[in-house]
Amino acid sequence: MNYNTAVQPKYYMHHPLTMRLNTLPRVRLANTPTPLQPLPNLTRHLKGPRILVKRDDLTGLAFGGNKARKLEYLMGDALKNNADIIVTGAGFHSNWCTQTAAAARKLGLPVILVKSGPEDGYEPPTWDGNHLLHHLLGADITILKEGSGQRRQEITQELRKQGRNPYTMPVGGSNPIGAAGYVNCMLELLGQSVEQGVKITHLYHATGSGGTQTGLALGAKALNTGIKVVGVTTGFGDVDRTTERLLNLSNETADFLEIDTRITADDINVLTQYGMGYGYATDAKMEAIKLTAETEGLLIDPVYTAPAMAALIDDARNGRLTNDDTAVFLHTGGTAALFPYRDPLMAHTRGEPLPWKIPQWSTDYT
Ligand SMILES: Cc1ncc(COP(=O)(O)O)c(C=O)c1O
Repeated sequence: MNYNTAVQPKYYMHHPLTMRLNTLPRVRLANTPTPLQPLPNLTRHLKGPRILVKRDDLTGLAFGGNKARKLEYLMGDALKNNADIIVTGAGFHSNWCTQTAAAARKLGLPVILVKSGPEDGYEPPTWDGNHLLHHLLGADITILKEGSGQRRQEITQELRKQGRNPYTMPVGGSNPIGAAGYVNCMLELLGQSVEQGVKITHLYHATGSGGTQTGLALGAKALNTGIKVVGVTTGFGDVDRTTERLLNLSNETADFLEIDTRITADDINVLTQYGMGYGYATDAKMEAIKLTAETEGLLIDPVYTAPAMAALIDDARNGRLTNDDTAVFLHTGGTAALFPYRDPLMAHTRGEPLPWKIPQWSTDYT
């Protein structure tokens, strides 16, 4: 069986959800469909569910990742509104910022990033990971310890006063426009599952700002798939607050897409015990990276996809996933962060205690 074949357009082409998505302004930025591939060695190693990977790390915008799908719709909206500059931001080593800067550059637009860091104006002695990429992409970068969201609003207003037409995107691109990208991903995944004759029972992925899980959960329900979408938070995470945030965004997205589907708390599965702090280095995350690399030659990242894979591994080992299940691991990208984590990764590989838990660039000391 060829697991890389493109989705045949006959699947879901005339579904109302597809038709509605087709009315939205969209710029082609992502290499889609991304492959849905089996992970036979990891499956054998874990002796539990059948495991597949959906390679959204191969979307191809900068280092790839999930944001490319959101940016297709967000940039579509920006261009429709004649934006002449993009304003956004997030954490210091944000993948969102990398992919947004790459998309903006590809479309000939300048980009302003207001990022959070451990102190105002923080610059590490060596540029690395996504921070290096933000510089390479020629973004205008401001680092603030606090108040980066407010500063983005101020910059937007200042630009308007100067006669510019900024388009400001929320952290992670997680609004109904961005989430539409992951409703679309669910359509794509379902087409592939039909084509490959795979009955998917679970989908594991990393959850941060929530647009990915929102789109997937909404798509899964609207298409009546029965797939359990499991979001694994990257930070400390609070189940109730995360669920509420995702519920609100899901239903706003349903309204935006003019569909009747309503998401309830039962449709939002959030696991919060694997993040242990945003970007924190833990043995479970390092083990997930090593195991995935050694069994499948597949590189995942320390901040987002490692906690999601750690959750899948744990569920397979503890019988929460069984031999009757087929779990898809959505690889959402982020691999540019592997190199800033060289020290804990080296230590783990050598069987030594991790040299640090909280990254130097963290703003998360709770
Ligand atoms: C690599 C990676 N995976 C997953 C996520 C989480 O996606 P979302 O913000 O849509 O929840 C992010 C968000 O930044 C990410 O960078």
